[in-house]
Amino acid sequence: MLLEGRRALVTGASSGIGKATALRLGAEGARVAVNYYSDKERPDAEAVAAQIDPGGANAFAIKADVGSEPDVVGMVGECQKRLGGLDILVNNAGIEKEVPTLEMPLDLWEAVLRTNLTGAFLCLREAGRLMAAQKGGVIVNMSSVHEFIPWPGFAHYCASKGGMKLLTQTVAREWAPLGIRVLAIAPGAIATPINDFVLDDAEARHRVEAEIPLGRFGRPEEIAAAVAWAASDQAGYVTGTTLVVDGGMSTYPKFT
Ligand code: BGC
Repeated sequence: MLLEGRRALVTGASSGIGKATALRLGAEGARVAVNYYSDKERPDAEAVAAQIDPGGANAFAIKADVGSEPDVVGMVGECQKRLGGLDILVNNAGIEKEVPTLEMPLDLWEAVLRTNLTGAFLCLREAGRLMAAQKGGVIVNMSSVHEFIPWPGFAHYCASKGGMKLLTQTVAREWAPLGIRVLAIAPGAIATPINDFVLDDAEARHRVEAEIPLGRFGRPEEIAAAVAWAASDQAGYVTGTTLVVDGGMSTYPKFT
């Protein structure tokens, strides 16, 4: 097992890539805090924790809005109490909603930046404080191919992921002397609930598949596998960079 005894927190872990990641880290021997956003997601998060460890000693669900400073301080404090520290943080929580920029309301812009970027910052800072005291840890930020591919209708989302890229690189430099690695993973189109608006529409689905040399959406487990490796000692020399896992989408297959 890659992560025997490691203590991990995965945000937004009640579904999609976060869920697959929590399950994979658990399967690799980690003890996992399974973060979820609201009471609506609670049963799903509890099911993820129970799947990792039905006894509950090595996995538990924990509610927090990653965009709220008191929530994040409370959540990381709880991890400290229940796990004795944190070795791995996966900043996965994220939202998106298509809106042309000319019509983008400020509150939607702010909501996306708050969860995707400020949330990642708050979790990273709080977990980083624990990791600095422990003299070690790994932070994996769930970015996107949209940290470098522009996406019309998603300016807020692209801004959040572009911000995440330089957050990752900057903090990787700051914290390398503390023994903390900070890196990002950039999934392409993955079959998760965030993409239901495309997956449920055959024409839109084919349009996206045509953008992917491997010809299909990725599976959440294929991202989780990358996270498990990135968080393990096998990736001990990897920091300050983004690992792209996108079926080749970022080779721009339509460009001839
Ligand atoms: C988005 C997906 C999108 C993919 C590729 C991801 O960051 O969450 O909705 O399909 O990028 O465009």
